[in-house]
Amino acid sequence: MNKNSISIPYDHPGLVTATAWASVPDLPDEQEKSELIARIRRLLIEQDAVLVAHYYVHADLQDLAEATGGIVSDSLDMANFGHKHPAKTIVVAGVRFMGETAKILNPEKRVLMPDLAAECSLDLGCPADQFAAFCDAHPDRTVVVYANTSAAVKARADWMVTSSIALPVIKYLHEQGKKILWAPDRHLGNYVQEQTGADMLLWQGACVVHDEYKARELLALKAEHPGCLVLVHPESPRAVIQLADVIGSTTQLITAAQRSSAKTFIVATDNGILHKMRRLCPDKLFLDAPTSGAGANCISCSHCPWMAMNSLTNLAKVLETGTNEITVDPAIIPRAVQPIKRMLDFAREIKLPTSGIGNV
Ligand code: 13P
Ligand code: SF4
Repeated sequence: MNKNSISIPYDHPGLVTATAWASVPDLPDEQEKSELIARIRRLLIEQDAVLVAHYYVHADLQDLAEATGGIVSDSLDMANFGHKHPAKTIVVAGVRFMGETAKILNPEKRVLMPDLAAECSLDLGCPADQFAAFCDAHPDRTVVVYANTSAAVKARADWMVTSSIALPVIKYLHEQGKKILWAPDRHLGNYVQEQTGADMLLWQGACVVHDEYKARELLALKAEHPGCLVLVHPESPRAVIQLADVIGSTTQLITAAQRSSAKTFIVATDNGILHKMRRLCPDKLFLDAPTSGAGANCISCSHCPWMAMNSLTNLAKVLETGTNEITVDPAIIPRAVQPIKRMLDFAREIKLPTSGIGNV
């Protein structure tokens, strides 16, 4: 661990807390920033590359992705966009499972990431060997995994879902009489189970960011802002979801903020998303949902430590050097692609709205 590293406790199988690491990038000053942006713009063209970013990464990367013909969106739209785009190289500014999904869908393309150590606690907390044993113990169940998993875990699944589409997929499978094995996020799994009534056996993973939102403090903040709307990502604990006016994926929460006549919003998801919300709705007030209060700890900052590892500096470096290429075992790809394609086909069939959120 160096001076720029932080340790992150996360839930591991058997409810043991394990520790992972994230490094904190140095942010460029204004002069360095404009030089880096000019360099990246040139390199994207030279390398025939497109930048695909998640709403949780630094605002500079979000703006640059849109300004250069790429996309800022949720994990489903990121997968879809990279899959259709003609560029030879896809640069994924997000976390590793997003890079792996892009590679699985585009094995012939080069997929780069600013930092390959950008993890996700849900992915880390669902090791492929233990997950395979869980599946083997329940062969009668349809296996549905969240996008936030490794390629090897996806290769054991029948379906992959993201938070945008988890509800309709589970509802559909429940109507077909299927019993579900769900992994890895327990809060999203609980929420979907309660909404659909499906028979679901849950892996007990959690997101280190969303798990920190506090219901009692949220209630108090809500009382201070009469008429506000509470927007909650379903990776949050049940007590927080119960206080929500809108529950949805990142894109769905942004759309709700745009459509609502409310003027104040409390947002229970990574605060990287506030950049897009404020750009799209400059006359509205967006507040972070509380993560402090009873039971809070030092990682309760409402920002994913691994998403934060993406920066203009490491983006320029990977475009220049070609390092940080995502690889997925070619033997796994034909199996891992099946649950992803099943989801993308289903999304098209039910006409699931994509972000449709353009440049501002
Ligand atoms: P979305 O699919 O809503 O973008 O969520 C991804 C994620 O990692 C949330 O923490
Ligand atoms: Fe994973 Fe949570 Fe970070 Fe999303 S916010 S990438 S679920 S650790």
